Amino acid sequence: MTIVHNRQIANQIFEMTFTGELVSKMTEPGQFLHIRVGDQVIPLLRRPISICDVDLEEKRCTILYRAEGEGTKLLSNKRVGDSLDVLGPLGNGFPLHSVVEGETAILIGGGIGIPPLYYLSKQLVQRNVRVKHILGFATRKDAFYVNKFEQLGETAVTTIDGSLGYQGFVTDYVNHENPAFDVLFTCGPTQMMKAIEEQMNPNRGYYSFEERMGCGIGACFACVCPVKNDSTGHEYRKVCSDGPVFPQGVIQL
Ligand SMILES: Cc1cc2nc3c(=O)[nH]c(=O)nc-3n(C[C@H](O)[C@H](O)[C@H](O)COP(=O)(O)OP(=O)(O)OC[C@H]3O[C@@H](n4cnc5c(N)ncnc54)[C@H](O)[C@@H]3O)c2cc1C
Ligand code: FES
Repeated sequence: MTIVHNRQIANQIFEMTFTGELVSKMTEPGQFLHIRVGDQVIPLLRRPISICDVDLEEKRCTILYRAEGEGTKLLSNKRVGDSLDVLGPLGNGFPLHSVVEGETAILIGGGIGIPPLYYLSKQLVQRNVRVKHILGFATRKDAFYVNKFEQLGETAVTTIDGSLGYQGFVTDYVNHENPAFDVLFTCGPTQMMKAIEEQMNPNRGYYSFEERMGCGIGACFACVCPVKNDSTGHEYRKVCSDGPVFPQGVIQL
């Protein structure tokens, strides 16, 4: 894949677009890419990053990433024209068929869990599903893609310090506004998704997990999560190959 742009759009958040034949396979929102971040042996492991947007005609894919650790900082140093070693698309994404024309989907994202919801929202809108977004950030400086989500549907923003939008967590906003919806899609810290599930108790809910990964293809067990209500204590699911998106009630939040 060839990098078309790589620029900072918020505090530590970068937007990278690249082009290549692989993009034609990126049709399912919620899937992720496994990206080799450097040319050296260290860091050895690829980094999983969600597909944020895809232009199938132009064969372009956009990812958003937080340059925080060793690997993502290396990614932020890449330049236009550099080639990028990308595996994927991997995993099972958000099920578009779970919501039908005329219904309302609520998409709730926290921080760097927000990117996969953008491609999801675009595809839902194309299917005449009404979308509502709730996007949670720490502060105004951390916020990104708010205008882009607003172009697709109703969008509420929350910040912990109140510097942008509603002051508090996404769950504080939900408590206050009690928004109506048919299906819930969410991605962000597990604690956030747990609080959302307890508070909203959706009939239909889909949760995307961002566990630490090793192989990304189901071989190393680095990404296992415990199954809900498992009496044996030995049942688990692999986020990389069984997920990263799971329906309500499968994973112990
Ligand atoms: C399916 C999936 C999709 C993801 N999508 C995105 C995305 O679109 N954009 C994005 O920026 N990140 C995403 N992540 C998280 C991203 O993979 C990690 O943040 C990244 O691997 C960290 O690499 P690093 O080299 O920066 O950090 P490291 O040097 O490995 O670690 C730096 C810090 O990040 C923490 N960290 C590392 N991996 C994770 C993780 N998976 N989840 C939470 N904290 C982690 C570490 O505890 C440490 O504090 C996704 C993860 C998964 C599993
Ligand atoms: S990352 Fe290796 S099994 Fe999931």
